[in-house]
Amino acid sequence: MNTDQLMDPLRFDGQVALVTGAGRGLGREHALLLASRGCKVVVNDLGSAYDGTGVGEKRVADEVVAQIRAAGGEAIANFDSVEQGELLVAAALAAYGRLDIVINNAGILTPETWSELTLESWQRTININLTGVFSVMKAAWPVFVEQQYGRCVMTSSPAIFGAGVAAYAASKAGLLGLANSLQFEARKLKLDIKCNLLVPQADTRMVRDFASAIDDRRVQQGRPPARSAPPEMLARLSPSRVSAMVAWLAHSSCDAEASIHEAGAGYFARLNWARSAPLFATEKEGLEGAPMPENVRDGQATLADFEHGHMPVSGDGTMGGPSALEQVLRHIKIAD
Ligand SMILES: NC(=O)c1ccc[n+]([C@@H]2O[C@H](COP(=O)([O-])OP(=O)(O)OC[C@H]3O[C@@H](n4cnc5c(N)ncnc54)[C@H](O)[C@@H]3O)[C@@H](O)[C@H]2O)c1
Repeated sequence: MNTDQLMDPLRFDGQVALVTGAGRGLGREHALLLASRGCKVVVNDLGSAYDGTGVGEKRVADEVVAQIRAAGGEAIANFDSVEQGELLVAAALAAYGRLDIVINNAGILTPETWSELTLESWQRTININLTGVFSVMKAAWPVFVEQQYGRCVMTSSPAIFGAGVAAYAASKAGLLGLANSLQFEARKLKLDIKCNLLVPQADTRMVRDFASAIDDRRVQQGRPPARSAPPEMLARLSPSRVSAMVAWLAHSSCDAEASIHEAGAGYFARLNWARSAPLFATEKEGLEGAPMPENVRDGQATLADFEHGHMPVSGDGTMGGPSALEQVLRHIKIAD
């Protein structure tokens, strides 16, 4: 089916998007999709290796811009690092006079195991994957506020669940706190600004080069290389099968806030935090003073009971949310 056959296609006419790391892989597909729906796109990419070394391959961003223009769309290239977010936002404003959408996609991954990980590598990863998003959003935020409108997507990773890449996982988990906090700010200002998270999976240069670096180590250690998925499986993991979620989260009609969505190979799911049923150790349970470790040990079944718990939402981190104190006070009152 093409868009002409759709009853109500999602369009971005008159809007401007900044897509970071859009010279290849996932970012490239996000940029192409947005441009094909009428969005003007700033294709940012400094052209580095998957681990952030060897910057300067400008060709990749230029090629995406040429492809967008050849299809009748509008785009410009930008080659600055996301660490200098103000330059990226300035490029969007200079070219198009506005900025409606920021897709924070640029990221790097280094192949060290925990025992190999150095402070230098940790900091390089955090600088680009987390502080880079901070830098871009710091510059984009006043524009969003001025326009009273904005859509921001941040790219996290399944690595947050643990995958042997500690710096990468920590940087990607940091984005969860950042997105929740920006959403909180937007809500305080009562503005139509939405900040959401993507957890993608795709066969890209990052994944391939990472896998081959790991294989090199295995071979050096006298172990066989890991078996790679057959080509037909890899074809299913084309990055183009992720971008629909990004375009949806970037659209004006999407009212999701600080949501986390998985996307890959045509599969989509929403991730959520879960809070278990509450375990109380208070005077109602006959306790005087501070709870004891045994109260926690003996309450394991309650802490494993998610059926009677609930899902926290963005903003729950404030004292106005369902804090521990509030829960306990309610619990004790019920006892009266
Ligand atoms: N591919 C996956 O399965 C997967 C899974 C989880 C998360 N991610 C995340 O998705 C994003 C895109 O990954 P990909 O797989 O397309 O990787 P990729 O390496 O193929 O592409 C990333 C692009 O970002 C650019 N880039 C790197 N550092 C930059 C910087 N400082 N400023 C501007 N551009 C920079 C690179 O030059 C590259 O073109 C990354 O944030 C990655 O961590 C990917």
